[in-house]
Amino acid sequence: MRLLPRSLFGRTLLVLVAGLMLAEIASQVVNFFDRGSGVYRLGAQQTALRIAQSARILNRLTPVQRDAVVEEMNGPNFSVILSAAPVTVRKGFAEHDRYEQALGTLIQRYLRSQWSTSVQITSLGRASRPKNYEAVDTSPLEQWIARHFYFVLPGTYSIVSQIKLEDGTTAVFYARIPQEPLSRIESLLPRLLLTLTIFAALGAVAVRAITRSLARLARAAEQVGANPEGAPLPEHGPSEVRSVIHAFNRMRLDLRSYVLERARMLGAISHDLQTPITRLRLRAEMIPDAGSRAKFVRDLDEMEAMAGSALEFFKTLGNEPQRQPLDVGALVGSLCEDWIETGRDVSVQGVARGPYNSHPQALRRCIDNLIENALRYGGRARISIEDDVGSLRIAVRDEGPGIPVDDLERVFEPFFRLEQSRNRDSGGTGLGLAIARNIARWHGGDIHLRNVPGGKGLIAELVLPRTANGRGPA
Ligand SMILES: Nc1ncnc2c1ncn2[C@@H]1O[C@H](COP(=O)(O)OP(=O)(O)OP(=O)(O)O)[C@@H](O)[C@H]1O
Ligand SMILES: [Mg+2]
Repeated sequence: MRLLPRSLFGRTLLVLVAGLMLAEIASQVVNFFDRGSGVYRLGAQQTALRIAQSARILNRLTPVQRDAVVEEMNGPNFSVILSAAPVTVRKGFAEHDRYEQALGTLIQRYLRSQWSTSVQITSLGRASRPKNYEAVDTSPLEQWIARHFYFVLPGTYSIVSQIKLEDGTTAVFYARIPQEPLSRIESLLPRLLLTLTIFAALGAVAVRAITRSLARLARAAEQVGANPEGAPLPEHGPSEVRSVIHAFNRMRLDLRSYVLERARMLGAISHDLQTPITRLRLRAEMIPDAGSRAKFVRDLDEMEAMAGSALEFFKTLGNEPQRQPLDVGALVGSLCEDWIETGRDVSVQGVARGPYNSHPQALRRCIDNLIENALRYGGRARISIEDDVGSLRIAVRDEGPGIPVDDLERVFEPFFRLEQSRNRDSGGTGLGLAIARNIARWHGGDIHLRNVPGGKGLIAELVLPRTANGRGPA
């Protein structure tokens, strides 16, 4: 199982949300300590003052009066008993010593007398009035909290303060400091959820905007090989993405002009080759041996044919810089008529739904190459046109021997011809399919070859993509 999301969107969102959670938790922890110690300081001060004042009042009263007053003083979080001698109280945690000392000093200050005072933080149970100040064992969790968070002393812990009054009586006070309730954590959850939702939503919008631009860029990058003529990408999005799109558009233009430039150069070479070939042909006449002469001339014919097809191919692309809507059905129809006129067996079925944006001459050459192959190697050509939302497909089927599966891709290589067609001396140069595929890809499409099952021929299919407007790439 993958824990890390694959997409940039998922990862960025994960980092955002995880970061927010950590920040929120950290701020809550800081807040908790801050608020807790604040509340404790205030509570401790109040408690110290109350103990000191009570001690001072009790000091002034007669034993009888004291009993009545003590009765009135006692409440759920504060009570006092008077004892002839100090009571023994279990010693609390060493960690609490500094707080006990601080409380003692505070009480002493409020007493304004040098009465002996002791303070002990210890567990006395939850009863509102402890029995004889006997220590009560608490749970390990409560002990742990009391030990490490002095300001969240669990309810079982009390402050026991013993003050020796002037007449020798010991007043034993016990008090609980109001604690910072831990249950605050519950109110934290909805708040965290709220911030998280807002953050995630805003983050999603921001990240989505970036990933959308990136996705568009990736799609265009895929297309650039297949369709070098596509419209430039609109330069939207954040400035970084915009500059990438800008560079990308420029690269696409450069690439396109580079391809055209190369085509023009190769075209020129093919063209210029014709002159030396003609010269060679004249010189061949001078070869005395008739057999050698014939072979020489045949090689020259082949060279001329190659240069000729190359020239024609490069011309088709260079001559039509702009695409135009083309009725592909009519184009195929007229090609068929031409072949039928020369007595070949060609038929067509199916129609195109609408015009297709293309280079008419190039597309004509592409389809004609497929028909020519079908006739040359398979005797007849059955053409079918299929057209739907996704693509326009023109399949040419023949009844020849087909092509061995291993060679189905190799026949697209320039000048590659199968052995048997070589022997048949059929006169091809091996450029036809290379040219046809080049033209198909220039239109954003492709050509696929497959054998008719049972060795009953070959199907060569030209697939041209239909875009949203139904016309094919602009
Ligand atoms: N319909 C087909 N049936 C059987 N083999 C085919 C068919 N089409 C092409 N081939 C094989 O693929 C090879 C390459 O075809 P391609 O059209 O590229 O060249 P070519 O027909 O030999 O020459 P060119 O088309 O340049 O005149 C052919 O030589 C032939 O062996
Ligand atoms: Mg051919």
